Amino acid sequence: MIPREIQERYAELADRIRRHDHAYYVLAKPTISDAEYDRLYRELRDLEGQYPPLIARDSPTQRVGGKPLEAFKPFRHGVPMMSLDNTYSREEVAEFVERVRRLLPGEILEWTVEPKIDGVAVNLRYEDGLFTAGATRGDGITGDDITANLRTIRGLPLRLGGAVTGSHGSSSESDLFQRRPSIQIPRILEVRGEVYMPTAAFDRMNEERERSGEERFANPRNATAGSLKQLDARVVAGRPLDIVLYGAGLIEESGTGVPFEQRTLLKWLQELGLKTPEKTWFCRSLLELFEAIDDLDRLRKDFAYETDGAVIKLNTFALRDQIGATAKAPRWAIAYKFAPEQAETQLQKIVIQVGRTGALTPVAELTPVFLSGSTISRATLHNDEEMRRKDIREGDWVLVEKAGEVIPAVARVLFERRTGKETPFQFPRHCPECGSLVSRTANAGGDDLGVVWRCSNPDCPAQVRGRIEHWCARGVMDIEGAGEVLISQLVKRGLVRDVADLYKLTVFEVAGLERMGAKSAQNFIEAIEASKNRELWRLLFGLGILHVGAGVAKALCRHFESLDEMRLAGIEELTRVADVGEVIAQSVTRWFGDPRNQGLLERLRAAGLKLKSTPGPAATRPGPFTGKTFVLTGTLPHMTREQATAKIEALGGKVAGSVSKKTTCVIAGADAGSKLDRARQLGVTILDEGQFEKLCAED
Ligand code: IVH
Repeated sequence: MIPREIQERYAELADRIRRHDHAYYVLAKPTISDAEYDRLYRELRDLEGQYPPLIARDSPTQRVGGKPLEAFKPFRHGVPMMSLDNTYSREEVAEFVERVRRLLPGEILEWTVEPKIDGVAVNLRYEDGLFTAGATRGDGITGDDITANLRTIRGLPLRLGGAVTGSHGSSSESDLFQRRPSIQIPRILEVRGEVYMPTAAFDRMNEERERSGEERFANPRNATAGSLKQLDARVVAGRPLDIVLYGAGLIEESGTGVPFEQRTLLKWLQELGLKTPEKTWFCRSLLELFEAIDDLDRLRKDFAYETDGAVIKLNTFALRDQIGATAKAPRWAIAYKFAPEQAETQLQKIVIQVGRTGALTPVAELTPVFLSGSTISRATLHNDEEMRRKDIREGDWVLVEKAGEVIPAVARVLFERRTGKETPFQFPRHCPECGSLVSRTANAGGDDLGVVWRCSNPDCPAQVRGRIEHWCARGVMDIEGAGEVLISQLVKRGLVRDVADLYKLTVFEVAGLERMGAKSAQNFIEAIEASKNRELWRLLFGLGILHVGAGVAKALCRHFESLDEMRLAGIEELTRVADVGEVIAQSVTRWFGDPRNQGLLERLRAAGLKLKSTPGPAATRPGPFTGKTFVLTGTLPHMTREQATAKIEALGGKVAGSVSKKTTCVIAGADAGSKLDRARQLGVTILDEGQFEKLCAED
């Protein structure tokens, strides 16, 4: 007989350790020092050594089991484990929501959005609160029984319940023991989730493996899958695995308190002591779903695990049951996958581009590769110095990325793939376009001093072309038909030397160019004519003054009524404008002070452009679209652009001319052009007219 005090002490120790494990591994809020924890653990282990019959199945000492297995036994899931339909497209998310709406007419639909954790799916089985078995998904009906491996994961409780929930944020040991919520433990509970390797631990493990001559794992997911396949649980115990739970399978004899919606299910799992996704969203409309997806995309880089998308689930279980599943996936959920942001490809050649400010930018020509939703074949290398720092050579294999930028960039060289045949690049000392000497003197503003090489010739055809292309661009003066080829011809023939020359062009001159008919020449001239009525900020932005982008141009035009006022304002007056600091003010002053530019403005004025503000539209009223920015592109089937704009503004939204990361939605009709491409590149939500009308009606 084991003395009663010993039995009681043993039970108390086991309970305390379990609670500390929960605080440490599940809540990531340790409540005692490592030394104190070790003391408790040693005492427990010593008692077990002295009185072996004490050893409970869920004792913290029993995580790493005995002998390696011969093979995994099959495990039949109590309820099949389904997978999810995947999509990379927001339109398909909208279609999914629409489909569910059609299947459930008249119902109020609520959704949850969860991170899609990039790990290995598992099913855990608890009987009377004890972890009894766990398995991989397998074919969805039967998986591999990997119980021994799963037991080694410290974030996986061997016994459910009695744990303090995370929301209170227990901060001291006494706290931990005061609140013992009573929660009913089901007879049988299957929980589903994802085993993963935290990114930081993965990096550390890989470094160690490299030091000891072992092969590195390609990524955390592979490392996790490889670990769970081990037949020897002692090997798995050395791998830094963790687990997150987000669903339930079979639940039996559960009494009261079993959740009937996803939101409460997650809460319930937490109360049972299980770890759930660190952030989830609750949504009531398509717009909210898109916002949640965007929010997740912003936050996910800071999560401990890798995420490759968002899982959208219908919140109410009863409604889920009504619509059921197809052969392999439920109809009530979908995974929206984030486009990969990095890809490997080969750099074939380095070319130099001369921009409108004369800057020489090295550009990598790549073997085409799929990245962030589109195929790319060029990437910027920024400048000479950056290229040397990264030791980029022609023929290299490189990692390209679109880290928030529109233009992809070369992140790094994959040195391990070098063969010795790669050739270093000699940065030119003359402009490849006009042959003038290049210099590294800083342009106005001077923040790129000594880094950017610039062509010193202001009449360099590449610069002239660049300035004209910028003037004509959609977000600027929006001159339809002004493509690269046409502008290049206009400059080459000497018809256009600066933007003011555009307004002197005749139909006859344009029609004489290659690939231009009388009709397209006429359209082009009309488009130029129409640009005379653009808002002043567009014109100012179009002038290409260093540091004066669309935002600054708008701010300046809100403050000053005309370009003349701007020209006469001193630095002090200029810096009074929101977003205008010393550097911008100086750049503006310098630009207006240059006689060439003064001449240009006079010629623009003479051509009939108004260098003054015209009264803008009345400020929009607040409404459900307040703070949201829409972009219209293409021809909508039943609405004109003006009607769509009026609708958006009536609901408090804004309509912008160009797509950026800040765009809430792009509404696309037939023959949509570059705005649609850009929306795809940036992952901005794209809606057709019907979906847009639903959005308006919904809010
Ligand atoms: S729910 C029937 N939620 O993604 C619904 N799955 O592509 C089943 N996954 O097999 C899954 N995070 O391995 C769900 N928050 C999450 C998830 C998630 C990752 C995995 C899971 C599933 C796969 C489907």
